[in-house]
Amino acid sequence: MEQKKVGFASGIGFILAAAGSAIGLGNLWAFPYKTSANGGAAFVILYIASVLFIGLIVTMCETFIGKRAQANPISAYKKVHKNAGWFGMLAIALPTIIICYYSVLGGYTVKFTLNSFVGNAGVFNSFAGNIGDVLMYTAIFIILSLMIVLAGVKDGIEKASKVLMPALFLILTGIVIFSLCLGEGVKDGLEFYLKPDFSELTWSSVLAAMSQAFFSLSLGMGIMITYGSYSGKEINLVKSTIMICIFDTMVALLAGLAIFPAVFHYSATAGIPYSELGMGGIGLMFQTLPFVFADMGVLGQIVSLLFFAMVTIAAMTSVISLIEVATQFVIQKFHTKRKIAAVTVGTFCFAVAIPVSISLGKVLNGDNSMVIFGQNWLDFLDLMTNTVLMPVGAFLACLAVGWIIGIKKTCNEIEQQGTKLGAFRPVFSIMAKYVTPLLILVVEIFGCFDLIMPMGDNGRSFSGNGLGIVACSYGLLALCLIVYFIFFRNTETGTNEDEHIVDWEEMVDQSKASK
Ligand code: PFF
Repeated sequence: MEQKKVGFASGIGFILAAAGSAIGLGNLWAFPYKTSANGGAAFVILYIASVLFIGLIVTMCETFIGKRAQANPISAYKKVHKNAGWFGMLAIALPTIIICYYSVLGGYTVKFTLNSFVGNAGVFNSFAGNIGDVLMYTAIFIILSLMIVLAGVKDGIEKASKVLMPALFLILTGIVIFSLCLGEGVKDGLEFYLKPDFSELTWSSVLAAMSQAFFSLSLGMGIMITYGSYSGKEINLVKSTIMICIFDTMVALLAGLAIFPAVFHYSATAGIPYSELGMGGIGLMFQTLPFVFADMGVLGQIVSLLFFAMVTIAAMTSVISLIEVATQFVIQKFHTKRKIAAVTVGTFCFAVAIPVSISLGKVLNGDNSMVIFGQNWLDFLDLMTNTVLMPVGAFLACLAVGWIIGIKKTCNEIEQQGTKLGAFRPVFSIMAKYVTPLLILVVEIFGCFDLIMPMGDNGRSFSGNGLGIVACSYGLLALCLIVYFIFFRNTETGTNEDEHIVDWEEMVDQSKASK
């Protein structure tokens, strides 16, 4: 009997899986909208700078932390310093929370894919309010994602990414070409999306670009640590991270090229002014676009099917990365089989997704009886994780690399792992130690400030709800710290080897039984 390697079989497998995690709803519905609202091409330049100054460096730091430890985020940070293990606790808690709401949106995308030939125009609010339906589609989405995670890193996540990512790219390119050929309105759409308008660049667009880079690259969670831990010598840290960032940015840019010409074409042919169309997040994806597709007749049904299938793929490859972080930890800490670990994670997240979908369904239908701090549950969890805690996670990764391990030691280790840093060494050293953590602090401080003192019609004013969200987030951070010091600091938290051992024991048992 030969022991199997737990991990990616190839460098490209790692890159595609990481790109799969990065490319998600953030690229398809948030980036195009933010670009159009913040000065078009001028925002794109800011975004690319944020990817270079923050995204690239944090992706490298997190992947490095995972790769050197070949273990889950808690053990990986423990290897950095025994008292730093709680950074990993946060890096496991955040993805677990995100699954609970991201899967509800994933369920919506499955429904809209399957419903493409019936027609999705105008059905969104009643669908979102039909909790039985929403839960069924959320369950389908979680089960499909779990099936990939259950098959393992190499045979599940890697193989699926190698098929799904090229498929996503192909569909997107096809839709871009189709969109650009629509004729009327296309030029206006392109102009609106990309015409550089530096006068619209404000301090808040700088912040929007930076926080979009975090979310889009799935940073500050355990994801790049977990995926990094499944990579070995075959991966060049610098080249792989650059490729992940390029893929992610390319898909975000293409998504805008697919969406804006089509929406402006619809606006021109249907005679509805652009300003009256909902263009951000849920409104764009599930309310405006279905009308755009409906306007195209039978062809629109096919485009709708392809479009929502693509969004489902993007959401699924993101959710499998989130599920894998928690699953890896459960396997390694509790010595359970992958099947049991993944199903436990999936069931827990589905249970939390129930109140999340009920609350969202109610609010979308004008019933505010189930809100927390003025938000539906989905937005509440999203603000906690993405606005407040994601930058904290990314900051801790830089702190670990730049200050606790030490930047010199880090660079030496990266080179020993087989990645030549060359002229990039001084740049990476200064960035990871000083520049990137400082920029992250700015994002964190202004993100919290914006919640506590939001901008209203009469300038900024205090919001108790915003303060509540920030307090809950820091409460969760404190909880991670306490749980780590009570339960995990002085106990074994495992490594990737443990999955070998669990599998190995199972194989031995099976071969004894068959004799
Ligand atoms: N990066 C994904 C997107 O752009 O939609 C979303 C995401 C996935 C965020 C995983 C965070 C995360 F941990």
